Amino acid sequence: MSCKNIYITTPIYYVNDVAHIGHAYTTIIADAITKYSKLLGHRTFLLTGTDEHGQKIEQSAKKNGKTPQEYADEISATFRNLWNDFKIEYDYFIRTTDENHKIGVQNAFRKMVENGDIYKDKYSGNYCVSCEAFFSDTQLIDGVACPDCGKVTSVLEEESYFFKLSKYSERLLNHYKNNPEFILPQSKRNEVIAFVEGGLKDLSVSRTTFDWGIKLPTEMNENSHVLYVWLDALLNYITALGYGNNENSKMEFWPAKLHLVGKDILRFHAIYWPAFLMSLELPLPHHIGAHGWWTRDGQKMSKSVGNVVKPREVVETYGLDAFRYFLLREVPFGQDGDFSEKALINRINGDLSNSLGNILNRLLGMADKYFSMKFSSNSDIFKNEENEILKIISNLEDYMFKLQIHKYLEDIWEILSIGNRLIQNSEPWKKIKTNPAEVEALLNFIANLLAKVSILLYSITPDSSKEMAKSLGIEISAETYDKFIRKNEKIESFELKMIPPLFPRFEEKKNETIETKTEIVNNELEPLEELNGDGLIGIDQFTKTTMKIGKIVAIDEVAKSKKLYKLRVDLGEKRPRQILAGIREFYKPDELLNTQVCVVANLQPAKLMGLVSEGMILAVKDSEGLSLVRPERERKLGSKLS
Ligand code: ME8
Ligand code: MG
Repeated sequence: MSCKNIYITTPIYYVNDVAHIGHAYTTIIADAITKYSKLLGHRTFLLTGTDEHGQKIEQSAKKNGKTPQEYADEISATFRNLWNDFKIEYDYFIRTTDENHKIGVQNAFRKMVENGDIYKDKYSGNYCVSCEAFFSDTQLIDGVACPDCGKVTSVLEEESYFFKLSKYSERLLNHYKNNPEFILPQSKRNEVIAFVEGGLKDLSVSRTTFDWGIKLPTEMNENSHVLYVWLDALLNYITALGYGNNENSKMEFWPAKLHLVGKDILRFHAIYWPAFLMSLELPLPHHIGAHGWWTRDGQKMSKSVGNVVKPREVVETYGLDAFRYFLLREVPFGQDGDFSEKALINRINGDLSNSLGNILNRLLGMADKYFSMKFSSNSDIFKNEENEILKIISNLEDYMFKLQIHKYLEDIWEILSIGNRLIQNSEPWKKIKTNPAEVEALLNFIANLLAKVSILLYSITPDSSKEMAKSLGIEISAETYDKFIRKNEKIESFELKMIPPLFPRFEEKKNETIETKTEIVNNELEPLEELNGDGLIGIDQFTKTTMKIGKIVAIDEVAKSKKLYKLRVDLGEKRPRQILAGIREFYKPDELLNTQVCVVANLQPAKLMGLVSEGMILAVKDSEGLSLVRPERERKLGSKLS
C-alpha cells in the first residue's frame, strides 16, 4: 500500500472548563487512529488545541477575575498537560489566540469577501452564549430556551456581516449524496441532510457587542466588529497547516482524512465548515465522524452534582491503557455511553486480565516450564485456526477507518479466544510427556498469534502492547506490521522474557454501609427527646404536602435581585412551572440546568419581585452554605416524594 498523508483532528476545546472524560474520549480516538495509520506506514498529522475567543470565554474570565488572555493561557495549559501526560502524539497544539491563526483567519475572511460571499446587514434574533449559536424563534423551546443546551437565549440586534450560507445548500446536499461516508455514522448523516433540506439561512459572522475575538481585516475599517467565534474556530483546521500565514505550509496534508467531533457540534462541522471551504475553493475533508455522549452512572455529568469523570483520576487508579481500551471498546462509535467504575472494572477483569493476560501468562508459564523459554517450530498443524485468524485480520483495517473500533476490538478478542480454546483442547500439560514436538508447535503458534495481537492492539493500548512485544522478542513498527500482519510471515524461533502481569485484576468496591446498618437495628434504642411532645405530626398530615421530582429546563436572572433565579422547572405537566428560588449566590446556571430537583408542588402560587412563583425547591441551608436536595438517581419527571 502506498504511503499517504493522513490528517486527523480533534475539536479545539473551549477554555471555559477543564477537560473531562468526553474530551479525553475524542482525543484518544484521534490518537488511536493516528497511531494505527503510522503503523500502516502513512505520514500522519494529528491536530488538537483550544478555542479561546468569544463571548462565553470573555464572561467566564470575568467571573474568575482574570483577563480573557490570562484565563485562556491557564486553561489551555491544563489541556496540553493532560494530553502530554496521556502520551497523545499530537503534531501541533493550536490556540486560536496564536498570532499565526489570527493572520490565517483574516486572510480567509478576505478571500470570502473577494469571492462575494460576505455582505453587511442587520442581525436581529436569538443567541445562545453557551453554544455560541444563533437560533430562529421557531427553534427555541418555550420561546426562550436554546434547543441544544436548554439555557435561556438572549436577543441580539446589531449590525453584522453575513456569510452567504444559503447559496451553498444545493452543493452541500449534492456532496452528502455523492459521498455517503462524508458523515459517519449513517444515522447522523440523515440528521444533517434533513437539517439542510429544511432550508439554510445566511450566517451572521461578526459581532459588535463585545471585544474578545479576531478583528476584521484592517482595510475594512470595521473596528467595532469581531469575527464570529465559530468562523474563527473552524478555520483552525487549515491555519494549523499554515493556510494564509506561512509560505512553508503543510497544506499537503489537506484535505483532512477525518475530523472527529462529538454529536453536539456536528452541525457546525458538516454544514458551516464545508460551506466555508467551498467559498475558499478548497477541497472538503474526507470524513466527519460524530460520536455520542458520555454520561456517568446513567446521569448527565455536571459540576453541581459533583459527578464529572476526571480522566486524570481514572488513569491514576486504573492505568492509561485500561482507560483507553474501555473508552474504545465499551461503546459503538456514534452511540451514547455510560461511564461507571463497575463497567470499567468488568472490562479490565473480563477482557484485559482474563482473556488477554491469561493467554500470555499461559504461554510464558509453559515456555518456562517445558522449554526454559526457548522454542522453535515450523509445523503448520494448526492450519484451520490460522485461516480463521487471517480471515478476521483481513477486515480489521476497514473497521478502524470506518470508526467501528469496538468491532475491531471484538474481533481481536475473537483471535484471543481461538488461542485460548486451542490451548484448552490440546491439553499440552498431558501431551508434554508423549509428544513434546506438538507442544512446541502449539507454543510457537500461540506466540505468533500474540505477536500479531500485540501489533494490532498497539494503537489502542500502546504501553502494554510494547511490553507484550518485548516479552515475545519483537518490535512494533511499520516494518513488523507489514511482515506479520499484511504478509503473515511467521517467526520460527522464540526466546521469551518473563514480564509482570499486564493487567492486574481490580476488586469491585463493596458497599461498606450494609453491615453497620444491621448492627444498629439490633441494638437497643435510647429514647430521643425530639420524638416526644406536641410538635409531632401524623403521616396523614405529612402526605398533604405534594412533593415531586422536576428538572430545571431554563434559567434566568431576576434583574433587581442578587439572590433570585427565575427557573423553569419541568414536572411532567403541560408546561414547565416558573419557580423563583433564592439560590443565585450558591449556584451558577450551568450547575442547575438540566438537573433534577425536588419541588413542593401544591403550594399556593406566590409573587416575588412582581413575578409569580409556582412552587418551591427543596434545599438545605446551614452555616456552611446551601445545597439543593436531589434524587440520588434520575427519576421520571413528576414522580412523588414520600
Ligand atoms: O464545542 N461526551 O468545545 P467544547 C462525549 N470549541 N464527548 C464530549 C462530552 C461528553 N459528555 N463533553 C465534551 C466546542 N465532549 C468548540 C469546538 S471545533 C472547531 C470547536 C467532547 O469544549 C466532544 O468531542 O464544548 C465535543 O464535541 C467536544 O468535547 C466539545 O468541546
Ligand atoms: Mg460544549
